[in-house]
Amino acid sequence: MITYREMRESDIPALLDMIWKMWAGPKVKAKPGVAIHYADMVLYYELIHATKAFVSDDGGKAVGVCVIDIKDGHPMNEDYLFKMAKAVAKMAKDPDGLDNLKHSTNVNRVFNESEEVLEGKGYGAEVALFINDEEHRGQGVGSGMFNYMARYLKKNGVKKFYLHSDECSYHQFYGVHRGMDQIDSRPSNGSLGPVDNVELYIYADDVEDQIQD
Ligand SMILES: CC(C)(COP(=O)(O)OP(=O)(O)OC[C@H]1O[C@@H](n2cnc3c(N)ncnc32)[C@H](O)[C@@H]1OP(=O)(O)O)[C@@H](O)C(=O)NCCC(=O)NCCS
Repeated sequence: MITYREMRESDIPALLDMIWKMWAGPKVKAKPGVAIHYADMVLYYELIHATKAFVSDDGGKAVGVCVIDIKDGHPMNEDYLFKMAKAVAKMAKDPDGLDNLKHSTNVNRVFNESEEVLEGKGYGAEVALFINDEEHRGQGVGSGMFNYMARYLKKNGVKKFYLHSDECSYHQFYGVHRGMDQIDSRPSNGSLGPVDNVELYIYADDVEDQIQD
């Protein structure tokens, strides 16, 4: 049975495994010793500003994660900055890691620029990371997590939220399945996984619209 709960430090290895399999570039994927640093970098980059991280739990094992950043909330743990810096330094030691790092930096720069469309519109939270492992996709686990996350946002006074996605991820989940609005779409000069010049999106919605009975 799937349940939803707060992330624990002991969940992190399972989450890292999901992250590199999904988003690392092909050359880094072929080098597990580098891919793990890529996953560290992605997870800790998001956790630095995170207010909360929830996991989907199947029999005690984390099978998915949802990281939330409430804009005027308190960061969970400032040690994550140090962990991310260490991961970046380790990636940079490998030529394929360094190349992947450059692509990630380009993607993140365009992600940040695209937030201009949000300015002054009262978005109180971002869903910063959302992924399930491959065996737990398309079975309702992500929808359950979205509902759980939206209830948490509502309880904390957040009315509108947004998230970044991209053409190499399952972004249809947000637009087609959750009815969110795609409020921005723009190309980047970076790659994610095997997709070069990946197209980046912002989806947004009212928290209330994501709460189901
Ligand atoms: C996005 C994600 C977290 C959604 O979680 P999920 O548990 O798969 O979602 P659900 O099972 O609740 O899916 C809801 C709907 O999407 C469909 N769906 C989900 N993933 C799918 C996929 N990869 N391919 C096709 N359909 C998919 C489901 O069939 C379901 O459709 P229905 O409501 O018509 O039956 C998950 O698919 C995932 O981890 N994808 C890879 C990582 C990713 O792309 N994350 C988003 C990055 S911003």
